[in-house]
Amino acid sequence: MSVLSGKNVLLGVTAGIAAYKTSFLVRNFIKAGANVQVVMTPASKDFVTPLTLSTLSKNPVYSTFYDKEDENEEWNSHVDLGLWADLMIIAPATANTLSKMAKGTCDNLLLATYLSAKSTVYFAPAMDLDMYKHPTTQLNIEKLQSFGNVFIPPTSGELASGLDGEGRMAEPETIVTFIEDHFLSNLPLQGKKVLLTAGPTHEAIDPVRFIGNHSSGKMGFALAKHAASLGAEVVLITGPTSLSIDNSDIKRVDVISAQDMYDAVHQNYKNSDIAIFAAAVADYKPKIIAGQKIKKKEAVMQIELVPTKDILASAGKIKKNQFLVGFALETENEIDNAKSKLNRKNLDLIVLNSLQDKGAGFRSDTNKITIIDSAENIISYDLKSKEEVAVDIFNEILKRIGA
Ligand code: CTP
Repeated sequence: MSVLSGKNVLLGVTAGIAAYKTSFLVRNFIKAGANVQVVMTPASKDFVTPLTLSTLSKNPVYSTFYDKEDENEEWNSHVDLGLWADLMIIAPATANTLSKMAKGTCDNLLLATYLSAKSTVYFAPAMDLDMYKHPTTQLNIEKLQSFGNVFIPPTSGELASGLDGEGRMAEPETIVTFIEDHFLSNLPLQGKKVLLTAGPTHEAIDPVRFIGNHSSGKMGFALAKHAASLGAEVVLITGPTSLSIDNSDIKRVDVISAQDMYDAVHQNYKNSDIAIFAAAVADYKPKIIAGQKIKKKEAVMQIELVPTKDILASAGKIKKNQFLVGFALETENEIDNAKSKLNRKNLDLIVLNSLQDKGAGFRSDTNKITIIDSAENIISYDLKSKEEVAVDIFNEILKRIGA
């Protein structure tokens, strides 16, 4: 699967003959699983039609802030487009557009969007060889790179002018591969190993019954997916759940009991850089597991329970360089209880769910969390989807590990 799968790619097209190649570029991004939107300079429409690019990208193509002819036309917000993009690529980038970008000129929608973009901006120049060699163009390219933009070099070959030399826009496949490689090597968790626990545990009473809880595993699975999207190699140790996950960067290990989870965690913990324990592990298990199904009797039934091993605390005890995160589900004195759990289990962060908050906790698709770090800084969040909560949790981790 491409690293661009599910990513929002904003393509800016400027007026060079190489614009005709952008139809292949859009197709290659779509093939990689990206969502594509296109912004064109007005003059680029002479080289490739908006209809072609909108059909291939399955999205409207923008070139003006609004269309005076069309009463229903809405204002096209460069700010919204800039925020939407996970990456922006300007291809072909003409000498004129490069110069305007370097100066901060903003006289069309594409340039306004470039200035508003929060993501990495790639640019693939295309022009005649003498224009390309000109010191002004070279200076503009250097300047744009110094702003953090990423230069995709042109290649040498026959140019539209008939001359031979440097200035041909990189081929669409080369551009996509270049961006994939660059994107991968710049992911903040590239080369890092993340260990996660998720879901409930089931503690057997007899061959057909168990003690369990309502944990769905959704929070842990959302964390696993986000860790993988940040470039990490993930081991997801999960108790029984109906959830599925299909991602080659996530190794799923299915377990049933707290003891199974303990064993699986300790097989993977030493090699991990970040460990997040989102599982709702049973605190007690039956002292004896009956070998046969327990038969119904008239008398009161009692099951003797013994504590399970605290997996998180055991990880805290042997912690070396791992960044260790635990969860706390509390019903009263939430902050104090969470702080004492953070210290007792030697954690770097604790994520607190209060059952007093509607929409938080087990089974729901949403969660409302408070994060407390080892310096006892407290950060509270609104009710959000578990996917968004996963992003918030990793943002706090990334800040603290300096990734
Ligand atoms: N946890 C664990 N192993 C256990 C119990 C809990 O790894 N046997 C982890 C959970 O995954 C969670 C954290 O510990 O990250 C907090 O669990 P919780 O049950 O809320 O805390 P306890 O320490 O068990 O305290 P209490 O039940 O008294 O609140």
